[in-house]
Amino acid sequence: MSRNQSGANEEQSANDAESNDRTTSRRSVLHGMGALGATGLLSKAGLSEASNGAIGNVPTQVADVNQTSPELEKWVDEVPRPSVLKPDGRKKGKSYYEVDMRQVEQQLHRDLPPTTVWGYEGQYPGPTIETKRGEDVYVKWKNNLPEEHLLPVDETLHGTGPDVPDVRTVTHLHGANVEPESDGGPEAWFTQNFEEVGPTFEKKTYWYANEQPSTSLWYHDHALGITRLNVYAGLAGFYFIRGKHERALDLPDGKYEIPLVFQDRTFNDDGSLFYPSGPDEDEGEPNPDPSVVPEFFGDTSVVNGKAWPRLTVKPRKYRFRMLAGGNSRFFNLKLFQYDEETQTIGDPGPTMTQIGSDGGFLEKPVEISDRLLLGPAFRADIIIDFSEYEGQSLLLHNNAPSPFSGVAGEDPDDVQPLPEIMLFDVQEKGCKRDKSCIPKRLARVPEINPDNAVEERELPLVEGVDEYDRLKLLLGTRESPNGLNWDAPITEDPKVGTTEIWDLINTTVDTHPIHLHLVQFQVLGRRPFNVDQYNADRESGSVGPISDYCTGELEPPAANNRGWKDTIDADPGYVTQVIAHFGKFKGLFKDFTGEYPWHCHILEHEDHEMMRPYEVLPREDGDNLFPNPLVAKKSGRTLFKIGPPQDLDGDCLYEDVNGDDEFDIEDAIALGQVAWAYENSYLELSDEQVAALDANGDGELTTQDAIALGRMALFG
Ligand code: C2O
Ligand code: CU
Ligand code: CU
Repeated sequence: MSRNQSGANEEQSANDAESNDRTTSRRSVLHGMGALGATGLLSKAGLSEASNGAIGNVPTQVADVNQTSPELEKWVDEVPRPSVLKPDGRKKGKSYYEVDMRQVEQQLHRDLPPTTVWGYEGQYPGPTIETKRGEDVYVKWKNNLPEEHLLPVDETLHGTGPDVPDVRTVTHLHGANVEPESDGGPEAWFTQNFEEVGPTFEKKTYWYANEQPSTSLWYHDHALGITRLNVYAGLAGFYFIRGKHERALDLPDGKYEIPLVFQDRTFNDDGSLFYPSGPDEDEGEPNPDPSVVPEFFGDTSVVNGKAWPRLTVKPRKYRFRMLAGGNSRFFNLKLFQYDEETQTIGDPGPTMTQIGSDGGFLEKPVEISDRLLLGPAFRADIIIDFSEYEGQSLLLHNNAPSPFSGVAGEDPDDVQPLPEIMLFDVQEKGCKRDKSCIPKRLARVPEINPDNAVEERELPLVEGVDEYDRLKLLLGTRESPNGLNWDAPITEDPKVGTTEIWDLINTTVDTHPIHLHLVQFQVLGRRPFNVDQYNADRESGSVGPISDYCTGELEPPAANNRGWKDTIDADPGYVTQVIAHFGKFKGLFKDFTGEYPWHCHILEHEDHEMMRPYEVLPREDGDNLFPNPLVAKKSGRTLFKIGPPQDLDGDCLYEDVNGDDEFDIEDAIALGQVAWAYENSYLELSDEQVAALDANGDGELTTQDAIALGRMALFG
């Protein structure tokens, strides 16, 4: 069913949301509160000034609300390790899991009364699902939560309301290349026992293909209008795809490989989770009650479900599968030596070496020279070598301002800093040798070539206001530069098997972590542009092509962003360019068609309209099955290319069989080259392309087809 048939409130589907002149209003509100925030960090490392030397228990203020967590002694609990989920059986010969969402009480800190949380399998964070690359699995996600929500539900947001059940869930596997029915989109929600389901609900048991590079995915709730509350209540967990190749890399594994999800929470004195029921109302109209807040930052670091924890490690290499899993918070991380007694920060600790990004291994390890930036939903696969730090304590330190605008360090707007994340205790030397290594080369990350892009989309990130005069962030298009609501008709509709460039034009004052479902994209870089001029033209309805506003050249991505990404930090004042191939690509991923969301991963933004549907269209009869140039290479030598004549150089083996002055797919087929190169695996084709060339219809592409298609003898 199409989401547009869902009977969604038509009034709210205004195409062009009103533009507004309150661009800086939220910032100034936060400014006023900023004076309350004190980080009190001692440092020889150029961090903030010390206030009293006691960095242990300085409460940080929450900007929009007056709530602060009870004082908790830091570093008293060990970081727990999420359990690994066991399959409940087999389905169609594959592993089958059932995962129950339950409300439970969990001890999040030694001195805090148990906290009521929502957990997959009754655990927060949820159990880790371990899968193998190329082996599909089935998961039935079940809602066994109570009927009443744990947190204040704003019934004015999209997808909510008096006739919609408060407790709705739908599990999305973030980063997965997945069929739309199993994507866990925002309107595919369901209640207890599937008694009620959302308009796009299709099936109870999801199917995950796992045909993508080995990586850390994560699953989390995605119910429309309450995602921020469901995830904050605890609904998130890890999902790993592992490959054979990964085992051969000799990375630290077993107890030396540890998933770490960084989150921020605020607690009430009774141990319950605090989430604001609305922003402070010091200006303008009163808000609905409860009301969504523009962003939420907790004042307590919670790692794998423990507040202010410590992790005891051996003096050796570890692999950490890191995830930023907070609602709005960015983390900008670095290790420092730390004196627990005097609570002082010393020299930098071991550097982090990044081996993987959101969607897979990087080609080569990247040493993080300063800090590791993790925006909401980012994953980083990190090796840390503790061998030089025997007997020491190390603090994982964060200096990302919140809200985050792309610049770290000192920031007057940094009203809710969370400088201390966790402590590492390095034990004295053991006798065991560390046989793990950091390989020089990790994986092949085939480049998506910008020359192959069939479309470049200009997608402004803009501020607007809703019908209650609340700030809301929106995603727009070239034609609707003032933003579109979630309910507006689809505007992004790539065809399966094609490549597109998406220009994320951030006209706002904050960084937005933009996420596309279904695909792993690559980052081309970012270009500065004239925001004031662009906004002025946008509001007067005369916005031109984005290239007219660019004020500098494309800045290439940082080395650790040159891999597969599914969420990218789009900084204010920049056009961030990503390139995606919507389908099978060089032996990776699968072709899927249908509707998927793309959105800002600040959960408060996503719940309040900063989310749009896009649709991957199927091929039509008469479509060129080979829209992008094909290149067949063997041992680095180009055997042949199919493309415009000017691209074809003398080294290539080709012949203009039909004499139309081009060497194209018809010629290649006539020559048998395509089938031949495919059989010898110099060429990656999609399933449909293979089918089109399968002359004898045996479901395979072999020399037989090449002979049937043309003059295979040429290659004899
Ligand atoms: Cu991690 Cu659409 O989400
Ligand atoms: Cu996702
Ligand atoms: Cu956002």
